[in-house]
Amino acid sequence: MKSLFRATPLMLAATLGLATALPAAAQFAKPEDAIKYRKAAFTVMATHFGRVAAMANGRIPFDAKVAAENAELATTMARLPFVAFTEGTDKGDTKAKAEIWSEADKFKAGAAKMQEEMGKLNVAAKGGNLDAIKAAVGETGKSCKACHDAYRKE
Ligand code: HEC
Repeated sequence: MKSLFRATPLMLAATLGLATALPAAAQFAKPEDAIKYRKAAFTVMATHFGRVAAMANGRIPFDAKVAAENAELATTMARLPFVAFTEGTDKGDTKAKAEIWSEADKFKAGAAKMQEEMGKLNVAAKGGNLDAIKAAVGETGKSCKACHDAYRKE
C-alpha cells in the first residue's frame, strides 16, 4: 500500500509535466477542461504543501524524508495550474475573478512569487532543518493567500 500511495502522485506529476511541454491552447479541447485541470493541479499541490505545513505547524510529527518528498512534489505541481488560465475560462465552474485577465501581468507575478517561495521551501526541506522549513512554509503560505485574496472568489 505504501509504495502505491507514493507512486500515484509521482506518476500524475510526470504525466502533467509532459502536458506542459505542449502549447497551452492545444492542451485543452474545451474551456471546462482547462478549469478542471487547474483545479486538480491546485488540489494536488495543496495536498503536498499541506503535509509539509502540517509538520511545520506541529500537527503531525516531523519526518525529514517525507517532508522533502512532499516539498518536491508541491514544487513540481506549482508549475502547472497557471497555463490553464486560458481565454474564455473565466466562466463556468470556477472561482477565478475577471481581474486575472485584465491584470494578467500582476497575476503572473503572483504565480512567479509563489513558485519562487515554493522553490525555497524545497531547498529547505532537502536540508532537513525544521526551523528553515517553518520559515519557508510561512512565506509560501503568504504568497498563496495574496493571490487568493486578489484573484479568487469567496
Ligand atoms: C497567482 C495566483 C494564485 C496563487 C499564487 C495560488 N493560487 Fe490557489 N487558486 C488561485 C485561483 C484563481 C483559484 C481558483 C481556480 C478556479 O476555480 O478555477 C485557486 C484555487 C485553489 C484551490 C482550490 C482548487 C479547487 O478544486 O477548486 C486550492 C486548494 C488552492 N488554490 C491552493 C493554493 C495553495 C496551497 C497555494 C500556495 C502554495 C496557491 N493556491 C497559490 C490562484 C492562486
